[in-house]
Amino acid sequence: MKFFLDTANVDDIRRANDMGVIQGVTTNPSLIAKEGRDFNEVIKEITSIVDGPISGEVKATTTDAEGMIKEGREIAKIHPNMVVKIPMTEEGLKATKVLSSEGIKCNVTLIFSPAQAILAALAGAAYVSPFLGRLDDIATPGIELVQTIAEVFEVQGIETEIIAASIRNPIHVVDCAAAGADICTIPMKVVEQMTHHPLTDIGIKNFQRDYIAVFGDK
Ligand code: E4P
Repeated sequence: MKFFLDTANVDDIRRANDMGVIQGVTTNPSLIAKEGRDFNEVIKEITSIVDGPISGEVKATTTDAEGMIKEGREIAKIHPNMVVKIPMTEEGLKATKVLSSEGIKCNVTLIFSPAQAILAALAGAAYVSPFLGRLDDIATPGIELVQTIAEVFEVQGIETEIIAASIRNPIHVVDCAAAGADICTIPMKVVEQMTHHPLTDIGIKNFQRDYIAVFGDK
């Protein structure tokens, strides 16, 4: 399973990229708005940091296929690594069909059922993004969604990749890996949580203490 960073914050993207743990980035309209920066400017900067798929979403206010196709073509022109993120609606599927036929990779987002994932794959999506955390938030096990999509894609020989999204904690990440997600897109906070373990910190302190006791602080 690959890791993408789920953010539009370029400092966090640089940090995770320097750690060597990410192979792509996903953004969404809320994440872009959080940075308060121009979409094209921030996306270009992200493509200069990470050499892998970068998802940029069509405007949240664009709901018709024609508009999404127009914007999708512009997003694709920013960099060869760009992936156009499109919401899972009837209009979004129409846009996915057209953009995919032009060789533009699409990531169909806001997937909350296996049936939606099947439709997105049939429309030509390169990626589907099932949202675990938001299902967990309403007391519905999000991991089951990823498991079922992975099973269906395997049985049917569907090549669309699964990006497990809306990740809230390290357990989500490990469960997604076990469930067969191709990619997990995670916030920087979860990368930090995955990095640290109290026993690692205690172990480092103890090694330092023992070493200094004999050799001093050299
Ligand atoms: C993924 O593509 C989405 O941008 C993201 O994972 C949504 O996560 P959230 O539910 O924490 O907003």
